[in-house]
Amino acid sequence: MDWRIKCAAHWLFSLPGMDRLYYPFKRHLARTVFRSPAELRADLAMARGHFRHLRDHLGLDPARARCLEFGAGRDLINNLCLWGLGVERQLAVDLYPLLRPELLNQALQSLSLMEDDCLARRPGGPMPLAGITEALRERFGIAYQAPFDLGRGGLADASLDFILSTNTLEHVPPAEISAILAECRRLLAPGGGLSFRIDYGDHYSYADPAISGYHFLRYSPGAWRFFNPPVHYQNRLRHRDYAALFRAGGFKILRQEAQVPEGASRAILAQPLAAQFLNRPSRELLPMSGWFLLAPEATQPCLNVASRAVLG
Ligand SMILES: C[S@@+](CC[C@H](N)C(=O)[O-])C[C@H]1O[C@@H](n2cnc3c(N)ncnc32)[C@H](O)[C@@H]1O
Repeated sequence: MDWRIKCAAHWLFSLPGMDRLYYPFKRHLARTVFRSPAELRADLAMARGHFRHLRDHLGLDPARARCLEFGAGRDLINNLCLWGLGVERQLAVDLYPLLRPELLNQALQSLSLMEDDCLARRPGGPMPLAGITEALRERFGIAYQAPFDLGRGGLADASLDFILSTNTLEHVPPAEISAILAECRRLLAPGGGLSFRIDYGDHYSYADPAISGYHFLRYSPGAWRFFNPPVHYQNRLRHRDYAALFRAGGFKILRQEAQVPEGASRAILAQPLAAQFLNRPSRELLPMSGWFLLAPEATQPCLNVASRAVLG
């Protein structure tokens, strides 16, 4: 789909009362809601990234750690994968009540059939359509809450060991990221940490092969506002910007990884850049996704691994 059509559709779904048509549109017209086997493998790989942060780098016990994911999405895929890897206590929250039983059940079925030795257990049969939140808690130790705004409080001090998000922070305005970080500092118990996987690509490029993941860097802030409807908000922050936000929020970076796809330099040179990006070294613009493991600045590092600053 031409990205401009997608943008116009998203502006329509951003109008009051239109959000309830968004899922039927994605499900029946765009047909983008079910995960392909390749996407599911990528989801499992991302869950394993968080799991390694939790168990190997922070040294937490997956069976006892109190985990929270914000931006859990429609099918809780990341939470189901984490359960499959051995995590027992999860709170899955989202700003919007997006959970869809049909998607959750499809994710369950695909995970059950998946041939991957890293999963310690398989989720088994489908969930009941009624009472799904109770069933999630009983079968998988997943407490689901939405709508839930992490930046606004509601949980007890030091009540969590591990807070994570996957492909969510790029949809959060910078000021709200700072509010979320402040809340995370309050919620983390000693020895706990944050694990973030962030997608830095222009999300329009996933539907429109005519544009690259760097396409949105050509627009000035004023022009980008026009192309950035609330239901599909993208903040365009780069890896280094997140690192600065995290440090300003009182966190130290225990691990970081910035992933640059093959051919990225050519792709970025092939397009004009808005002034705010033109002035930056291209190595800061190139990463298309990234990982961070953070701990509150005041606590002692509980890691043996050296902090890896990929971008210098
Ligand atoms: C692209 S989806 C990712 C969902 C899921 N983590 C995944 O990987 O499939 C982003 C999710 O973040 C949620 N979200 C956006 N801003 C948020 C915020 N400030 N707090 C919590 N969730 C948020 C959205 O509602 C959406 O479910």
